Amino acid sequence: MSKIGVIFDLDGVIVDTAKYHFLAWKNLADELGFEFTEAHNELLKGISRVHSLEILLNIGRISLSEDKKQNYLTSKNEDYLNYINKMGPEEILPGTEKLLDTLDSLNIKYVLGSASKNAPLILKQVNLLERFTDIVDGNSVSKAKPDPEVFLIGSKKLNLLPEKCIVFEDAIAGVEAANKANMISVGIGDKNTLHKANYNFNNLTEIPENFFEEFLSKK
Ligand code: BG6
Ligand code: MG
Repeated sequence: MSKIGVIFDLDGVIVDTAKYHFLAWKNLADELGFEFTEAHNELLKGISRVHSLEILLNIGRISLSEDKKQNYLTSKNEDYLNYINKMGPEEILPGTEKLLDTLDSLNIKYVLGSASKNAPLILKQVNLLERFTDIVDGNSVSKAKPDPEVFLIGSKKLNLLPEKCIVFEDAIAGVEAANKANMISVGIGDKNTLHKANYNFNNLTEIPENFFEEFLSKK
């Protein structure tokens, strides 16, 4: 068995679903009568669905009963799923499959570590579900990122110590979660935004072929 393993975030690393979250949250904001911009949407990256609604309601300065919140969470997700159900393999972000091939050839196992409760469906839509050893998603955790729980469960699935796990993440909350878990954090996206990551790349096409060698050769 390999001495290291990889944990992938999903949204923003493997697929760009932020645009669909944006459309669904914007519909809700329209219904509630306030403006929700793409800049606002940035605040929701890596954040759980429930917490995202809290942030959205704060933006609109709206307070709602728990019942209403539950109804809006359900309708937002139904709306979001209309977009997800139309997704296909063409939406896999560049570099993903080549990176998975590299990991397969090095015998390095990988699991998913996502905040999304829709993660298995999204992977299925893009034909990647079968490639992952295991899935840790929003249904498996009690505490959302930046809490390290999702990645710590991932390291157990990989049967590896946290310090032997490499996490690919596009969100500040996710990089913080990986760092708190004592894992190797790789920020995918803007280097200034993700400056707390141990390594930074703009996207998965930039990961060098030999990226994993230094970790494999370490004691
Ligand atoms: C994360 C996304 O991966 O999943 C967040 O970056 C999203 O924007 C969160 O809110 C929860 O997703 P879902 O699919 O359970 O609503
Ligand atoms: Mg993400």
